[in-house]
Amino acid sequence: MCGIVGYIGPKNAYPILIKGLKRLEYRGYDSAGIALLNHDLNILKKEGKVSDLENFVIGKNIEGTIGIGHTRWATHGVPCDRNAHPHVSNSRNLAIIHNGIIENYASLKTGLEQRGYRFESDTDTEVLLNLIEDIQKKEKITTEEALRFALNEVVGAYAIVLLDKSDNDKLLAARKGSPLVIGIGKDEFFIASDKTPIIEYTKKVVYLGEQEIAVLGRDGSLEIKTLNNIQKTPYIEQLEMDLEKIEKGGYEYFMLKEIHEQPQVILDSMRGRMNAEKGWIKLGGVSEFATRINNAQRIIITACGTSWHSGLIGEYLIEELARVPVEVEYASEFRYRNPIVTASDVVVAISQSGETADTLAAIEMAKERQALIYGICNVIGSSIARASHAGSYTHAGPEIGVASTKAFSTQITILTLMALQLAKNNGSISESKLRQILYEMETIPTKVKETLNTNDKVEKIARKYKDAKNFLYLGRGINFPVALEGALKLKEISYIHAEGYPAAEMKHGPIALIDENMPVVFIATNLSAHEKIVSNIQEVKARKGKVIAIVIEGDETISKLADDVIEVPEITEILSPLIAIVPLQLLAYHIALMRGCNVDQPRNLAKSVTVE
Ligand code: G6P
Repeated sequence: MCGIVGYIGPKNAYPILIKGLKRLEYRGYDSAGIALLNHDLNILKKEGKVSDLENFVIGKNIEGTIGIGHTRWATHGVPCDRNAHPHVSNSRNLAIIHNGIIENYASLKTGLEQRGYRFESDTDTEVLLNLIEDIQKKEKITTEEALRFALNEVVGAYAIVLLDKSDNDKLLAARKGSPLVIGIGKDEFFIASDKTPIIEYTKKVVYLGEQEIAVLGRDGSLEIKTLNNIQKTPYIEQLEMDLEKIEKGGYEYFMLKEIHEQPQVILDSMRGRMNAEKGWIKLGGVSEFATRINNAQRIIITACGTSWHSGLIGEYLIEELARVPVEVEYASEFRYRNPIVTASDVVVAISQSGETADTLAAIEMAKERQALIYGICNVIGSSIARASHAGSYTHAGPEIGVASTKAFSTQITILTLMALQLAKNNGSISESKLRQILYEMETIPTKVKETLNTNDKVEKIARKYKDAKNFLYLGRGINFPVALEGALKLKEISYIHAEGYPAAEMKHGPIALIDENMPVVFIATNLSAHEKIVSNIQEVKARKGKVIAIVIEGDETISKLADDVIEVPEITEILSPLIAIVPLQLLAYHIALMRGCNVDQPRNLAKSVTVE
């Protein structure tokens, strides 16, 4: 979380930085700021969004061919101008932007205060900056060396970019735990938390490695060293992403665009990995570890947020099809207890961004215990993808809306393929059943497209319930995690309290909440549990609750009972989450829009959570 961007070269830095910050705003939007170096350090920062910063700088000096920019997701200190980045050192010679958390900042701060340093903000970042300055002064060394010494003293995670007023020709950067990408242009460098601010200018990039420091020179030199002062040769990679993929493409919000991209990205995530006619599945990246994966005694799935929900669906899929025991763990819990993980376990880490700090730490812990790590990530080259032994990319393309939609669908697609591949390898599925499921998978993109046609109906339903204070989402079996995800979507972007529950568990608590003001969304696409779902709907109706049901086309029984019905195409039950989630995403989207919420940038949230 927090987006950082930097530029050094012949052009004016400001427009590049502002555009870059807009692209990174999904990472946090509590405040935004820019530092430009034009022999003098010019700091412009403001609480709020990047657009607030743009208004603030009108009429101000924005000259400078070297600069850094930051969009913040607050950790230490409330969102306000004072806590906005960039921060300047006590001598006003250094400016810094930072993404991450310096865990030992309190003790460092006390030491610095005793040496006379004063702090303008409540941030850990300002402490790191003054530590660099203090070391530089004390040791009489270069800023670069002082940076390296300081980073060896701090505990925590960081991606930082540093400006030194006394050197107009250099940008310094370092990372540990939080990502940084360097773009190499003609006589210019770009640096950012991800590639989206860079792609417009160059496709040549270097991913800065863990615990590495980079010095970007105006003369075109790029020097990379480790924190132990070992010189590294930059490994230049070629980006393949198009600019248009990160623009809104005519949609009002990224979230709506991304919901509508689902037919295509599901297809992309299946492409080249299965063939129904020939009955084969091939998930890349596994061959080297095929034996260990096939012989896994147990699979542990670990993830956060929406990715954790797809993990729960993965549990149903793998246990049902491959008969391998699966446990699903919140990464934040898993990493801090003392779980039993052995060399015979496969740990599957699911992450859209590939940067979620808890998920990354969870796999590092599992790696130490000799488990094989399989990463399911969307962002190519991300930290979790790199830290995994094997893995599959979801190929959903850049997901900008903070509430995850298309990444979720592609994660489920990969998990389905994984379950089928395991089942095929261990003989727990017949050839005919395998083919039948693969054929059905091929129909999913079309069926998701058809489901998107429910949009107008969903919008009408949204209008009816937009003022509700609470929502309950109920599902059974493989659609229980869909209920959780539907509830999460609604609470994330509309701020309505929503809970997901297994439908049968309702009678052990949530039923007490039901009255005429409580909308209850039933995910009723499981044919095997149809009668039971009908009974659950009756229980809600008997208490005057309002029922919104997602049903298979032609389901007259539930249509007669429910207040509102959304019909979706029929599909074999284990694949139904991919269809059922679509109207729930649309429902959350329309309700949030009608309530005047910022759908793409919900309050307090960020897309990439690189802090614990
Ligand atoms: C944040 C995002 C969620 C996401 C979760 C896990 O909370 O707002 O949309 O599901 O992080 O992120 P990951 O990138 O690991 O999937």
